Amino acid sequence: MRYDGLIAHRAMLRDSERTERFAKAIEAVVRPRHVVLDVGAGSGILSLLAARAGASRVYAVERTPIASLAADLAQLNGYGETVFVIQADIQQVPPPEKVDVIVSEWLGAIGVDENLLAPVLIARDAWLKSGGTMIPSAVRTFMAPAELRNRPDAGFFRNRPYGLDLSPLAEPSIHDLFWQRRHVRPEDLAADPAELWSVDIETAPLERAFLPWRGEHAFIFSRSAAVNVLVAWFEADLAPGNTLTTAPSAPDTHWGQLQIPLEEPIEVARGDRLDVRFATLPVGDGPHQLAWSVSHNGGRWTLYDTRALPTAPTNGTRPAATLATPAANGNGAHLLGFLAELAGNPDALHAFIQNPEQVLEASGLPEAKRAALQSGNELQIQQVLVTERVP
Ligand SMILES: C[S@@+](CC[C@H](N)C(=O)[O-])C[C@H]1O[C@@H](n2cnc3c(N)ncnc32)[C@H](O)[C@@H]1O
Repeated sequence: MRYDGLIAHRAMLRDSERTERFAKAIEAVVRPRHVVLDVGAGSGILSLLAARAGASRVYAVERTPIASLAADLAQLNGYGETVFVIQADIQQVPPPEKVDVIVSEWLGAIGVDENLLAPVLIARDAWLKSGGTMIPSAVRTFMAPAELRNRPDAGFFRNRPYGLDLSPLAEPSIHDLFWQRRHVRPEDLAADPAELWSVDIETAPLERAFLPWRGEHAFIFSRSAAVNVLVAWFEADLAPGNTLTTAPSAPDTHWGQLQIPLEEPIEVARGDRLDVRFATLPVGDGPHQLAWSVSHNGGRWTLYDTRALPTAPTNGTRPAATLATPAANGNGAHLLGFLAELAGNPDALHAFIQNPEQVLEASGLPEAKRAALQSGNELQIQQVLVTERVP
């Protein structure tokens, strides 16, 4: 997503469901004399709302030149003396003082996938007073299988439409679907949604932002359907009693829902089971690398990822050479090195979501680190990572 021009900011500002929920949360939390930090201020909208709610000072930190718009809007609205706009990466700004509230709209289509969580946690650790408040305070990710009509599926292009070979368009159309956002209707879902993971923004250790997010669920269908997509979305607790949700049943937002494609529809009957494993990994500054796999009624697993869509159906096992890849350059003893390699290698990532135990066994990681990663226990992960400070 590009944030240095107006297009993305206009879309976010016009999203009244998002912006009004943030406004209500800020009004509920910010008190007169509070000092507020807005991480990734963009147009400065959340800073203006904090100033209007009575904050005595608001630091609006934005790394792109759109920061000048935030400064102009602060002047225009009479908050030029309250809102201090700083154009910089939040990680480079030493806090001038501790703050009572940190507000940040750092959310991607499934919450954690915009690579903004790490800067927010870094800001929390450096800027927030003890007992201060984070907006949002917790974020959860959900998924459900769905049947979407008029989906541009690969099958159409593989089946010689108009008697012509249009097969080169098959795989790109799956990719396009992945990035396309549209509002999925509740009746499109073919099974009850499941929560995949959650993150507590007030307590999560910084290292959590660099680890994979991994969830799995056995969906049981409440009706027959031709399942052609997994749909994912998030819920963010902004303030007590104020949760922003992008669920299909909620009012539409600019996020819509993430549509995670399956190559060919899976015909399911009521009572059938679909096992889904899903993982997302931060990669550098860009969007996350995602991988997912599905198995219908205990059958073969089909593996997909955002770089190589789709891969051939497999029985869920991978050759030992692939499993050993993360350790191949000698970084295996280092958990962050291991994760970086996992993120850059779709085969290894698949192997990890299919069979974390086997991949960890082959990783060369010491036992304590393997146990931590396998447990997914944040505290345990934090303990083993203290010697591996994030660069
Ligand atoms: C999703 S937008 C939100 C903008 C604005 N707060 C709003 O609610 O409309 C996230 C913003 O964070 C900025 N950003 C991302 N990483 C940053 C960082 N490390 N330091 C400062 N700003 C950052 C982006 O440039 C972008 O403008």
